[in-house]
Amino acid sequence: MVKQLFDRESCTYTYLLVDSNTREGALIDPVREQLERDMQIINELGIELLYTIETHPHADHVTSSGKIRQMTGARIVFGESSGIQAIDISVADQQELSLGKYQIRAIATPGHTSACTCYYVDGMVFSGDTLLIRGCGRTDFQDGDPSNLYDSITQKLFILGDETIVYPAHDYQGRTWSTIGEEKKWNPRLGNSREKQSFVDLMNNLNLDLPKKINEAVPANTSVGVNFDPRRYLLHDFTMDDLHEIWREPPNNTLIMDNRTVEEFAKGHVPGSRNIPLGTESEHIDELKEFEQVYIYCRSGRRAQTTFTNLGFQGMDHITCISHSGMPNWIKAGYPVETK
Ligand SMILES: [Fe+2]
Repeated sequence: MVKQLFDRESCTYTYLLVDSNTREGALIDPVREQLERDMQIINELGIELLYTIETHPHADHVTSSGKIRQMTGARIVFGESSGIQAIDISVADQQELSLGKYQIRAIATPGHTSACTCYYVDGMVFSGDTLLIRGCGRTDFQDGDPSNLYDSITQKLFILGDETIVYPAHDYQGRTWSTIGEEKKWNPRLGNSREKQSFVDLMNNLNLDLPKKINEAVPANTSVGVNFDPRRYLLHDFTMDDLHEIWREPPNNTLIMDNRTVEEFAKGHVPGSRNIPLGTESEHIDELKEFEQVYIYCRSGRRAQTTFTNLGFQGMDHITCISHSGMPNWIKAGYPVETK
């Protein structure tokens, strides 16, 4: 399933991709100002967000991907040529990411910027600013290069089937999608087999104004839209085995917190742990602040990470999160389990 979302101010399209069986999702090019809207949809649809995917470092808006990572644990994906440090997955040309039964294939398409990447999924191409509907991205900043853009579009996008749906990062005239076949024929910049030199001359003479937000957006986007990087606090990957060590000889005033649902907790949990299901942690913040150290676990680590960052934002810095494992690992290790 694809949901096309729109930010009116920057005319940016954000796309939510969902595998309707697994409920796993990915968000392409999320916009800071639309964070609440996007999180509401993700929560309402019960989506486990695996990735936020950027087509390039945008010059016209600030991304919300860093904030979304803090809220959901979704990993940030960028093309490898972006060189951005604060991301989780840098994809090479033709590298694939799994999303339920789908494969999202990265296609490196330098030109609009040197770091542009398009993503192909199941008959659709999310073309960023590389290929727009009856247009293409400008090439006069961020290492843009019209000759590279020509090659990227003609050699890497126009070879996709004519029926391939083109979902761009922007449209300023209310158009929502196109196809490769339409753009090959009708794109005024390089459709109808326009020659490379004529495209380069055209692009070098556009004389456009700079985007309003460029001075803010480019530096902000190279730090994925946030200054707070929660991974700073996850110095090493704290595991259920580490938690077991703590549990055997707990230091004074330590809490082990299980933030799964009441039902999951009842089926088996770390003995002596306390169940504070995800989403209710803020109601307990005053009690939690009383502890010297709080350890949070769940099933896979994803919910623990979410609570970890939520509490972090409310000023708690004495939390340790088991971020990549959880109760099944505890059980598998043969450690004692309590039920009630
Ligand atoms: Fe752009």
